[in-house]
Amino acid sequence: MVKHLADVPSNIVTNEIDLTNQSPYRQNYHVESESGSLGDPNGFSYFNHQYHLFYQWSPLAFSKNPHYTQHGWKHLVSKNLIDWQDLGAGIESDTVLDKHGTYSGSALPVDNRLFLMYTGNTWTNTESEDDWHRVPYQVGAMMDKDNKVKKWMTPLLKGPLKGYTGHFRDPKIFKKNGIYYAVLGIQRENLTGAALLIKSSDLHKWSIVGEIKADHNNFGYMWECPDYYEINNHGILEFCPQGLETSNNKYRNIYQNGYLIGNHLNLENGQFDCGEFHELDKGFDFYAMQTMRDSKGRRLLIAWMGLPETKYPTEKFHYTGCMIFPRELQVKDGVIIQKPVKEIKDLYQEQFLIEGKTNKESIKLEAGKSNSRDIQLELDCTQAYDTILDLFANEDNTDHLRLIFNHKKQEFIVNRGHCGLPISEAYGAERSCHLDLNKKIKVRILQDVSSAEIFLNDGKDVFSMRVFTDNKNNHIFITSHCGEASYKAKINQLR
Ligand code: FRU
Repeated sequence: MVKHLADVPSNIVTNEIDLTNQSPYRQNYHVESESGSLGDPNGFSYFNHQYHLFYQWSPLAFSKNPHYTQHGWKHLVSKNLIDWQDLGAGIESDTVLDKHGTYSGSALPVDNRLFLMYTGNTWTNTESEDDWHRVPYQVGAMMDKDNKVKKWMTPLLKGPLKGYTGHFRDPKIFKKNGIYYAVLGIQRENLTGAALLIKSSDLHKWSIVGEIKADHNNFGYMWECPDYYEINNHGILEFCPQGLETSNNKYRNIYQNGYLIGNHLNLENGQFDCGEFHELDKGFDFYAMQTMRDSKGRRLLIAWMGLPETKYPTEKFHYTGCMIFPRELQVKDGVIIQKPVKEIKDLYQEQFLIEGKTNKESIKLEAGKSNSRDIQLELDCTQAYDTILDLFANEDNTDHLRLIFNHKKQEFIVNRGHCGLPISEAYGAERSCHLDLNKKIKVRILQDVSSAEIFLNDGKDVFSMRVFTDNKNNHIFITSHCGEASYKAKINQLR
């Protein structure tokens, strides 16, 4: 077993990449790994005049000849959040502090360098062969302007902490009033999840402020990838709770994602006055989101458009996962509003403007051959029982991603049950939310070769998902039932 990808025979690596390149599902403008698995985004930041994005990466995850199986961070940079340059392995599992996995973490520019903070996962068996348990280290590292990373060999903190299990990971760092803070996911000994707040004045010595007290004490068994940030006078704690029970149309994936919003977090004692938990993305494939504040003052979001422990058809081509297209976050009426970053315009090519009405008949919208599109639709379905938009449709519209605007139920439903290859069937083929259809609505959809991100209500409700259809499934149909619906669409083909 070798510790660095550079020491793996190069033909093994290139064979994997060649196989991945044969996939018909490769995306056009969403970040994917060149081979192997892509997971949580890490270290999303702006440093040295460019955006940095790292991610959980296991480049030979599907190779039959695994010379190198540990987690590492892949490193990418971009000037415009669209064109990403691949810098290869960012950090790898090559020290005693991270020998069984360079787990998730974050980054913050400090002076002329980028400070990286992550969890080094290690397993140990002190008592007997079968008694393996996790010893997590919170690790610091500095990256210089040449993108060279130096890990600090004294851990910032070592787990498990008293009263908690070995599930202690994913530090998200931020700075306020000259002090560094980080939030981490942690599991209490009674097997409930929480977020822990820690602080430091010099990045080396960290002390524990305590749990974030948000009145969600029995809310899943573990909180992964927490993030805390402020937008105006709102404090927002995002995290991915594991172990929530499905309730109606909520919490339908294997693990969930969402946020609490309230006043600013009290950084002295962890008190957080906030309301209920909101799902950030209600789609089928979304996890481990991370935000950053960029040089323009925007709060930007990136996330894995995928889920842990979930099989995707791309495994046949030895890769899985992609990122969402980056979004800008704002707060409106006490909830988060998400919009694709405006840089998307750099991808625009041909534009189609389409208007019309439908009453029972299925109308095909002519919007170019490629499924890479930014669709902006105004829909008046106030007079119809329901209105249906089919994307990724084949010629006779028997296979499609179906979006249903149900006036009777005042609901939006997305169904991927008849859309190419099945995915995660055990978790159901539909996701939905309440939608006021007594008024005209706006729908925005970012389509790519094998994904869709659907924004409703100006980005208050968002659904992200992967779909794996034949590439001839490039049609769009609109149909209404029991009454007329009218539509106005602006559809941009994307490069
Ligand atoms: C979330 C997660 C994190 C962990 C990482 C390991 O998907 O489980 O909690 O740091 O993945 O890859």
